[in-house]
Amino acid sequence: MSARVGAYVHPVAGVVVVVLLAYTASLGLRARSERRLRARLLARHARLGPILLGLVVASWLGGLLSTWLARHDLELGASAHTRTGVALLVALGGSAVTARWLDRPIVRAVHPWCGAAAVLLAAAQVFFGLQITP
Ligand code: HEM
Ligand code: HEM
Repeated sequence: MSARVGAYVHPVAGVVVVVLLAYTASLGLRARSERRLRARLLARHARLGPILLGLVVASWLGGLLSTWLARHDLELGASAHTRTGVALLVALGGSAVTARWLDRPIVRAVHPWCGAAAVLLAAAQVFFGLQITP
């Protein structure tokens, strides 16, 4: 695979991860509004959460690897996209940590806000990612 084509692997995988993030967030929020489906939606949300976190960590490392291997025109780790990526990881890490103590009301209130921050940061991630897309 040429470096030029290879440079598109991360952005395309990035779109998939961001769509999955939005879907996971929507499951959590729908669980609050759709009472009847609550148990099923929450179970799916809780199952996807750790997978999502793993995929975002992999995307971050994959982006760096992709830049190193295929984008000699970019300075490694110098973009706004790298920094929003770190913020996204911190926000989603907040979701993962708070998910462990959801039986406490204060933690239950904070958990979705970490997720909402992650969704907003993911939008910024796409925005800054498109600016450096070849
Ligand atoms: C729609 C989503 C995304 C787009 C369009 C996108 C686009 C890009 C592009 C074009 C690059 C340069 C390397 C290459 O061409 O392969 C890059 C690098 C990178 N991406 Fe993404 N990306 C997206 C999602 C993500 C996600 C979800 C993460 C992880 C949180 C991430 C983290 C990184 C990092 C850390 C780099 C290295 C940047 C540097 O060294 O300056 N990206 N991305
Ligand atoms: C992506 C953004 C996210 C949003 C907006 C979000 C939102 C929510 C909401 C609204 C609830 C229901 C709280 C309630 O009323 O009972 C919930 C529950 C939960 N979330 Fe998230 N969440 C997100 C990400 C995550 C992640 C990344 C994880 C795990 C790493 C996770 C794990 C859980 C777990 C385990 C529950 C409890 C499920 C149960 O009670 O059976 N969430 N989330």
